[in-house]
Amino acid sequence: MTWLITGGAGYIGAHVVDAMTRAGERVVVLDDLSTGDRARIAGVDVVVGSVSDAPLVARVLRDHGVRGVVHIAAKKQVEESVRLPLYYYKENVEGLRVLLDAAVDAEVESFLFSSSAAVYGAPDLALVTEAVECRPVNPYGETKRVGERMVEAVAAATGLRFANLRYFNVAGSARPDLADRGCSNLVPMVFQQLSLGRAPQIFGDDYPTADGTCIRDFVHVADIASAHVAAARALSEGQLTALTANIGRGEGVSVREMVTIIRDVTGTAAEDWAEPVLQARRPGDPARVVASADHIRGSLGWRAEYGVEEMVRSAWEGWTSQSSDRSALPPARGTA
Ligand code: WQD
Repeated sequence: MTWLITGGAGYIGAHVVDAMTRAGERVVVLDDLSTGDRARIAGVDVVVGSVSDAPLVARVLRDHGVRGVVHIAAKKQVEESVRLPLYYYKENVEGLRVLLDAAVDAEVESFLFSSSAAVYGAPDLALVTEAVECRPVNPYGETKRVGERMVEAVAAATGLRFANLRYFNVAGSARPDLADRGCSNLVPMVFQQLSLGRAPQIFGDDYPTADGTCIRDFVHVADIASAHVAAARALSEGQLTALTANIGRGEGVSVREMVTIIRDVTGTAAEDWAEPVLQARRPGDPARVVASADHIRGSLGWRAEYGVEEMVRSAWEGWTSQSSDRSALPPARGTA
């Protein structure tokens, strides 16, 4: 069978394409290349266009005999979603509606939807299970929650098999050329500071946590990808009909701990290391968001393989390999 992977030229999408093809699955990618890059998926069938283009989606599903869809294409910046909520509803909700409509028409059997820990909002819990009530606190998280519900409703109406996969804090790369090129999350933001010879920033150290900084569940993008392979197999082989699951490690790491790991992994020399600068809290940051990873382990037998050091090391390899493209930046100080 063939899988349509939307957003397959992006950071997470390209890792899923890589893992699915290495697992022997046939794939075709639909990507509008707004943030994706086809160089990440050389040799893979790519259709350039939007999931909101109904005739195009129908044609791709038909021409490639698609039986399963992995829907990763989306806008994903929280702060942008607060400024441009209707853009997020258009891209993430309307895009999904058009895709689902075409998928049902084309008798697609299995549907994987990229969701996010952002659906939970600010859960005041040690570990977040899937049974926790979803209360997203920004338009981005709302569009992901609405998307899950849309997938569930269509599944109930048509028998579509589905998996809503809630990613926690994704980091790392399986190969340098697949690395994240964005600069909106903790790990790349600290890399950028190091590259500019500046001190890393910590947004708030007065949270009710052991060291006062926020705690997150960082998960390697290669583990995210392997979870998709496991879910795709379980759905297409009929062992599973419906799944809503966290993809995380079930282990919290604080921002301060992460910054220390980055210092150690990047080999920043002591004389070049500038102590992190404390900044005001970033509005909307929950103190602690850590997955319970029990459900996905029980239903798919999946668990994360990589730890935080591996995430940071591989992300740094990707960052330094792109440094020729970042010619505006001076080289990192004191790093190997
Ligand atoms: C992590 C922690 C920052 C940079 C968001 C979305 C989530 C998902 C991933 C998409 C926070 C702190 C950061 C820095 C810092 N998105 N920080 N200094 O906010 O947990 O999750 O991205 O699909 O839905 O909400 O991730 O990496 O931005 O921040 O102190 O230079 O690091 O304040 O506590 P976040 P993040």
